[in-house]
Amino acid sequence: MTSEPGSEEPMSQAVMHPPEVVRHDEPHDPPATQGGEVVFSMRELAVSYSGTMAIRDVTFDIAARQITALIGPSGCGKSTLIRCFNRMNDLVVGAEVHGSLTYHGVDLYGSKVDPVEVRRRIGMVFQKPNPFPKSIYDNIAFGSRLMGKRRDLDDIVERALTRAALWDEVKDKLKESAFALSGGQQQRLCIARCIAVEPDVILMDEPCSALDPIATAKIEDLMEEIKSQYTIVIVTHNMQQAARASDMTAFITTDVGEDGARTGRLVEFDETNKIFTQPVDPRTEGYITGRFG
Ligand SMILES: Nc1ncnc2c1ncn2[C@@H]1O[C@H](COP(=O)(O)OP(=O)(O)O)[C@@H](O)[C@H]1O
Ligand SMILES: [Mg+2]
Repeated sequence: MTSEPGSEEPMSQAVMHPPEVVRHDEPHDPPATQGGEVVFSMRELAVSYSGTMAIRDVTFDIAARQITALIGPSGCGKSTLIRCFNRMNDLVVGAEVHGSLTYHGVDLYGSKVDPVEVRRRIGMVFQKPNPFPKSIYDNIAFGSRLMGKRRDLDDIVERALTRAALWDEVKDKLKESAFALSGGQQQRLCIARCIAVEPDVILMDEPCSALDPIATAKIEDLMEEIKSQYTIVIVTHNMQQAARASDMTAFITTDVGEDGARTGRLVEFDETNKIFTQPVDPRTEGYITGRFG
């Protein structure tokens, strides 16, 4: 990634300063993010795997303390895109990120940025709940212990589980294995584990696709509950979920080139309500009305 002058600020400095508001006065402004503080700003972002472009032309901003949904047909690059936000693609062999992606105005791929610190500030919840083979308590305390914290762990654990709406269900069995919990509880545990290290952003890649409707509703309620404190980006192939739970929606689809190459592209980004009631692009309308995808 190319970095602009002045964008080499190390992440540790970004941690120290209150996030600054980034202004975009250049042409090709993406749609407004309701005037809010910008957390992620993408310009012509693209990702290739071993030289084959998986997704390209991604230009939009993600605002603080909102829920932004990424929707689109299977294989269009939603997971690829969300993995850019916490540099998870660094861990994928052959993956290369092109274009620009800033986080609170700092080039996320700048040479001085520490990917480990990035992943603490920008947590991730996956499709399949992935508790560690440890007790409920140790799962939540894990990140804090890793950071060398020995004190106040009880408070940290209680606070995170409370915020993740799980405390009442588990407070009497904190020493039991996390695997003894139901799938929905395990997913809330993973959200609590994420919250426990005080992130700024929570990324969720289809967090409810392995859950039943009741557990799904609990996760959606939880997202609504915590969004005043966190910026949430969620990948979902459940359009009702995107419509119900998100403030902004990015619709991505797969273009098939003349050579047959399939590449994901951002089609439209706007307020969720607008995407679902008055989409501008006919491809968005086709997708949300179920005509393709
Ligand atoms: N690790 C990888 N190596 C090579 N190609 C990949 C990898 N992950 C995803 N892809 C390809 O990138 C494209 C987008 O995949 P993905 O981001 O998983 O889509 P989605 O999450 O929207 O279903 C697909 O063509 C997929 O095969
Ligand atoms: Mg995916």
